[in-house]
Amino acid sequence: MKITSSLTTPNKSKSNALIIGFFSDKELNSIAKEANELLNKQISQRLKSKDFSGNTGETLTLFADSGQRVVLVGLGDKNKCHLGTLQTANTKAVKALVTTPVKTVSNYLPSLSYQDIDAAIAGKISAIASSHAQYRYEATKNFKKDNKHALQSMAIYASKKSASTIKQATAIANGVETTRALGNLPPNICNPDYLAKQAKDIAKKYDNCTLTLLDEKKMQKLEMNALLAVARGSRNSPKMIVLKYTGAKKSQKPHVLVGKGITFDTGGISLKPGANMDEMKYDMCGAATVFGAFVAVAEMQLPINLIMIVPAVENMPDGDAYRPGDVVTSYSGKTIEVLNTDAEGRMILCDALTYAQEFKPQVLIDLATLTGACVVALGHVASAVMSKQTQLPQDLLQAGIEIHDRAWQLPLWDDYQKQIDTSFADMQNVGGFAGGSITAGCFLSRFCEDVNWAHIDIAGTAWNNKKEGATGRPVAMMVQYLINESVK
Ligand code: BES
Ligand code: MN
Ligand code: ZN
Repeated sequence: MKITSSLTTPNKSKSNALIIGFFSDKELNSIAKEANELLNKQISQRLKSKDFSGNTGETLTLFADSGQRVVLVGLGDKNKCHLGTLQTANTKAVKALVTTPVKTVSNYLPSLSYQDIDAAIAGKISAIASSHAQYRYEATKNFKKDNKHALQSMAIYASKKSASTIKQATAIANGVETTRALGNLPPNICNPDYLAKQAKDIAKKYDNCTLTLLDEKKMQKLEMNALLAVARGSRNSPKMIVLKYTGAKKSQKPHVLVGKGITFDTGGISLKPGANMDEMKYDMCGAATVFGAFVAVAEMQLPINLIMIVPAVENMPDGDAYRPGDVVTSYSGKTIEVLNTDAEGRMILCDALTYAQEFKPQVLIDLATLTGACVVALGHVASAVMSKQTQLPQDLLQAGIEIHDRAWQLPLWDDYQKQIDTSFADMQNVGGFAGGSITAGCFLSRFCEDVNWAHIDIAGTAWNNKKEGATGRPVAMMVQYLINESVK
């Protein structure tokens, strides 16, 4: 869906549909008044008859004589309205339209006067939430050729001053869609080679991008043995994907994002139980997130230098697979005792993180569906941020609040480190039941000692359930963070 900003009011709008918001006080702002006239006062009638009361997410579709649809959508109590409410209102309004033949929409939700949300942010959230609501997975599904799900463009009501914010929002929305599309693909299609091919296409499509691919042979030469250990069980050979975007002076140190790209996680020899194992196709959502963030930054041509690194590997059981008890020497030289082959994410990430530091990053952030324990700790609401720094995690949390894609910090205190000590290597790859997300973070921290680094566990936020699939989180938080960095 193409998103633009516009100051056209309902009178002049040629869109097939208009979205008009109401608080539960049912007051009509100037936009709603115009729409009411277009509809021969149907709005005031429906408010009076209590067919529509403005509760959060409530919708009612009315028709003008011209056939134009007007979707009324509620935002509830004006005093309690926050970014989440605005997200919900946009979602419900767009969902009411995607099953119709409507092609073009004017979204007037940003015209309301909110207590704590300024117009530009309201426009931004509306654009991202609307785009999210109209997405549907199509890659491997045949749809009946009907004229529904026809939405092509949305004009967000926004002043000239807000237009640049809406541009950012469209880039973010595009990034989110990229991430969801990759995340939702089946693991027989989306394997390490496929991810490498996507990176190639991105490098071609956007200005100032260059791609480097490390194949298995190259990684063997470099002795990235922790990553290679995981890859051994699969017929699909691993790839290290390195996409560079240069939007600032070459001398400016890059922001480096590393994304876990396990294209399918069976657990390996420490095989996972069968139930819901299919969901481990989402184990490349860290990679998908950095792809999405990269696309958004390249589309905006943000004045920063950004490097995206994706270790892309499949974790399978096999006669040649790595085993519990194996000790491997990572790219850093540190040795790892493998106690569980299902703790594979940290094995590929440690080598990718060591490699990432060769680019002398000013900031290094990894994103990974790393631990089931993270879902236990924070559910599906917040991503988990871990860092030994003070400022970096704060900046990430702040960006998440701004764009309503929120995270919460877990401690990475040294007190947890002893859980991954072992007599047989420099560390073991599991830390036991207690604090499973934190000990995974501790493992990674041993490879990021002298760098401004944060780890983000997205096991709870990257996908929802089988029906909804990949959420595209936390692309918005990451891109907002990078936007904030670019104006620092
Ligand atoms: N990809 C999983 C983590 C995961 C599991 C994410 C379920 C979302 C839902 C990861 O590779 C894994 O298997 N982690 C193990 C670690 C354990 C062996 C220390 C886990 O969480 O059980
Ligand atoms: Mn695993
Ligand atoms: Zn995994």
